[in-house]
Amino acid sequence: MVTITIDGKEYEVAERRTILQAIDDLGLLMTEVDIPHYCFHPKLAVDGSCRLCQVEVEGLPKLQIACDTPVRDGMIVKTANQRVKDARKGVMELLLINHPLDCPICDQAGECKLQDYSFDYGIESARTQEPRRPAKKNADLGPTIVFDQERCILCRRCVRFCREVPKTGELGVFHRGDESVLELFPGTQLDNPYSMNVADICPVGALTTKDFRFKIRVWFLDDQESVCDQCSNGCNIYASRSNNKVYRYLPRRNDAVNDTWICDHGRMSYKQILENRLTEPGIKGQRDVGYRDAIQEAGRLIREARTSSRRIVGVASPYASNEDLFTFRKLLEALGAGPGTFAVQRGEADDVLIKAEKAPNANGARALGFEESYESVGAADVAIVLGHTTTAEYFRDVANLILIDTHVSSLMDQAAVVLPARVTAEKEGTFTNHANRVQRFLPVVEPKFEAWSDGDLLQQIASASGLGGWDSMYSVHEISKELTESIAAFADLQLGSLDDQGRELS
Ligand code: SF4
Ligand code: SF4
Ligand code: FES
Repeated sequence: MVTITIDGKEYEVAERRTILQAIDDLGLLMTEVDIPHYCFHPKLAVDGSCRLCQVEVEGLPKLQIACDTPVRDGMIVKTANQRVKDARKGVMELLLINHPLDCPICDQAGECKLQDYSFDYGIESARTQEPRRPAKKNADLGPTIVFDQERCILCRRCVRFCREVPKTGELGVFHRGDESVLELFPGTQLDNPYSMNVADICPVGALTTKDFRFKIRVWFLDDQESVCDQCSNGCNIYASRSNNKVYRYLPRRNDAVNDTWICDHGRMSYKQILENRLTEPGIKGQRDVGYRDAIQEAGRLIREARTSSRRIVGVASPYASNEDLFTFRKLLEALGAGPGTFAVQRGEADDVLIKAEKAPNANGARALGFEESYESVGAADVAIVLGHTTTAEYFRDVANLILIDTHVSSLMDQAAVVLPARVTAEKEGTFTNHANRVQRFLPVVEPKFEAWSDGDLLQQIASASGLGGWDSMYSVHEISKELTESIAAFADLQLGSLDDQGRELS
């Protein structure tokens, strides 16, 4: 470690880091220490091309770029004196020479670093008489991204991202000097599983996603912390919402899980909140029954099976939260049904983020004692099933299927009782990811129809089955408390005490 002084304050930082990296390590970048930058990105190689991050280092005659100047013991850095501000103003003037500054019709407006820094350091009118150089408008870079070339400030973040993260390298800066332009390499398309991250890291409105472009102005959105539920990596996300609707998912930084990235599949999964949802309870194919009747029917089937000592089984889902699964475990214990089972779909994985298990909480199900099984559940009288990914084949010999599910599936046709449940974005809870990290997610939107969380529905079914001690209102925080008190691995992982980065199972 070395000691450096920034604007009069001393900090201990790691050796062999640059000034900006050291400030980022301290978690102070753009909060306590405001050094404007475009090309620097904490998760990409240093480029040093935009020249905006200049600072004064005592003992050196010229200003230095903070992103590429290594720290040394005793270094004294000034980030906000007049000399530094004048230099930033000069850089901004150069960057704006060819930029259209068309903020009113630019989709990045409201979250654009060029807009912010122009406000802080830009000059009020251009000193140039020449027209801005011609460049491409609305250029299609591939299935996900549109490129407005005249807004590009050539920071090369997108180029480095494609080279370093998916390692596909579709983008490059071509030609030289003021002829330089960002382009696709000939014969390629920007088409990789992480392509949409370039829109997040582009500091201006040059790269935008086809999906979100012109859907809503960003100042009408607010971002809620959540976790992607499409594979066991559990990437941290923000869900941007307005008027009870989610418009996009964005990556939320968690260096232990997903750095600052998410995959395109996970990003687009916000559409599942509205698409193909199971909206109505049902009893034996009849869909116009009320919630109460469906729960009473589920209770009746369980009561009858218990009275005549017939077999009851539980099938969990790796999409259910730890809290929902704990409620299910308690219910199965109370019914004397033995441990529940679950199955998780597997698919392709890579060495960036995408994991083979295509659900967020298979490890949670394992930690809570559910047995992973691909066998049919056999000739049970009642199977209580959290659907999501299970297949009809599994239940061919079950007399009465009580199905709790989020989306329409073939399983509904053979269910005695169907109950619509909430998706991740509609409830609160935790998932345990592939590395046993327990991460919380918060409710983002309310369902547009009556639906309850799996845990809530299970509690209501337990009560309707005549089990004692299940009549209180369901509270996910109460369940979390009980879970963390009764399962040693989850000790200290109570919902209210988890921060936004999560913690590992003990
Ligand atoms: S398109 Fe955006 S990220 Fe790529 S070089 Fe231009 S400004 Fe930078
Ligand atoms: S890698 Fe997995 S968890 Fe991460 S965004 Fe993609 S699907 Fe979601
Ligand atoms: S951020 Fe340092 S030169 Fe661009």
